[in-house]
Amino acid sequence: MPRVRVHQHVNPLAPYFRFTPKPLDLEKVFAKSNLPLHLDIGAARGRFLLKMAELTPGWNFLGVEIREPLVAEANRLAREKNLTNLHYEFNNATHSFDRLLEKLPQEILRFVTIQFPDPWYKKKHAKRRMVTVELVETIARHLCSEEKVFVQTDVEFLAEEMFSLFRRSGKFHEAKTIENPFSVKTEREQAVENRNLPIYRRIFTKTK
Ligand SMILES: C[S@@+](CC[C@H](N)C(=O)[O-])C[C@H]1O[C@@H](n2cnc3c(N)ncnc32)[C@H](O)[C@@H]1O
Repeated sequence: MPRVRVHQHVNPLAPYFRFTPKPLDLEKVFAKSNLPLHLDIGAARGRFLLKMAELTPGWNFLGVEIREPLVAEANRLAREKNLTNLHYEFNNATHSFDRLLEKLPQEILRFVTIQFPDPWYKKKHAKRRMVTVELVETIARHLCSEEKVFVQTDVEFLAEEMFSLFRRSGKFHEAKTIENPFSVKTEREQAVENRNLPIYRRIFTKTK
């Protein structure tokens, strides 16, 4: 099956992506809506979550991605594989993201992953980066206490920027980790590891 072709990057500040999403109703997207929820932000083609959902039927997996055709393709694959614990949403993590998560029941969001987000190297493009004060606040609002956010990237300056946003929120305990805590790697992670390049990783545990 050929891969769907998409733009490599989209500008999350463009009007098309500045929509207000409907709050997600877990009962409509998962067979068992009360399972613990893992949220992957910037899921791309969603292969990481696809494998996680296959390996971990006792959890639900939600991927959020701004490139719409990838979301349609990933949901089609999940249906083909009869994975009723896997769903992807077309959404912009830097615009009204809190609204998407507004109806999540308390004590449901138990893991968040942010893996290799686009660095947007140029200074004039810095506002397009995915991890912002608002995103960190939204995660902190919905994630259960003592539960974790795993953040990884191969771009050093971006690692520092993201880690300091979590640090400065005052709502997480920070721990360095050399390894990915999962047995599954994202496509980008595999590509970086194949080239033997360094990866900067942190686990942030919500404290309050
Ligand atoms: C470099 S890719 C990494 C994909 C995957 N996490 C991995 O590690 O292989 C970053 C992904 O984040 C998505 N993305 C960028 N900005 C986003 C935003 N504001 N909201 C949701 N997804 C976003 C991009 O479209 C892209 O698929």
